[in-house]
Amino acid sequence: MFTSTEIFTVRLSEDGQAVEIIDQTLLPNEVKFLRLETAETLYEAIFGLRVRGAPAIGIAVAFGMYVLAQQIPDNGGFYAELLRLGNYLISSRPTAVNLSHAVKRMLSAAAECGKEAALPRLYEECNAIYNEDRAICRAIAENGLTLVKDGDGILTHCNAGALAASEYGTGLGSLLLGKERGYDFHVYTDETRPLLQGARLTAFELFRAGIDVTLICDSAASMLMRAGRINACFVGCDRVAANGDAANKIGTRSVAVNAKYHGVPFYVFCPSSTIDFDCGSGADIVIEERASEEITEKFFAERIAPEGVKCFNPAFDVTDAELITAIVTERGICRYPYTKSLAEMFGRN
Ligand code: MRU
Repeated sequence: MFTSTEIFTVRLSEDGQAVEIIDQTLLPNEVKFLRLETAETLYEAIFGLRVRGAPAIGIAVAFGMYVLAQQIPDNGGFYAELLRLGNYLISSRPTAVNLSHAVKRMLSAAAECGKEAALPRLYEECNAIYNEDRAICRAIAENGLTLVKDGDGILTHCNAGALAASEYGTGLGSLLLGKERGYDFHVYTDETRPLLQGARLTAFELFRAGIDVTLICDSAASMLMRAGRINACFVGCDRVAANGDAANKIGTRSVAVNAKYHGVPFYVFCPSSTIDFDCGSGADIVIEERASEEITEKFFAERIAPEGVKCFNPAFDVTDAELITAIVTERGICRYPYTKSLAEMFGRN
């Protein structure tokens, strides 16, 4: 997460009355910040990907619930209204579990108390969610750095960096931390069709951090692997099932299949809040489907497909646990079979 006064990803406004975000839909061409004060603007910002990335939307919603809680009239029914608002915000995007995880934490902070008692608790909880995420991203970055060495070529897909989480991000955290420690990585970022999070956001972040980053079309990754230019793949994720199946941006599975074929290790990075032990396998993960226009029109001066053509635009896919070399969390690194290693690491036995 960018946290300087010059640029930041998401924060609570100084007066505590709004969630402030950088509008990621405008990057890299324009750096513009938005002040979100209502449930509708928060919903729109998440659904419209102005704030995006699993941990960042969890933090935005946590701050948002504190902001909205202050607006609820103090005439009884405080908790019921907070619950309604939480469910409304959860419905903005279905795949990333961090969203409902943050809402659940905020609701339990406010449980069984009226507005007056709940507000300081909610304030504390949203800041805890934010500060914990910073520490978690740092720990993930440290753990991930043990998997690579100076000079390595790393392929990444979508954006799992400072714009998607706190501090260093998850999938890009080790690269940013490594840079600070003098590592010289050669990072290849898939442009990530159709919304170009790799081209617009990852390239923006890594370029700014002074990391050697090369933008490629998604379809160029296989050829680079064959040429021996990729030593590891680093991706974030939106939900990990108990068996290790991991949902991430559409196209991630293709990267993993290619990596397996070429013998390149494929690493998934996530905070524990992204692991959903209630979800047995990837088959239980709801995949968000988005508008056809994202494929046929967005980012193009003219339509690039015939009017009315049938489109299928899933925003995420699920990478099978067998294709994942390791899942890197703040607690440590889990290896296949994940049903056992995740349960052991997170005490779910
Ligand atoms: O649709 P997006 O841009 O929210 O998708 C984001 C991703 O797929 C990220 O890789 C994921 O949320 C991990 S972010 C640390």
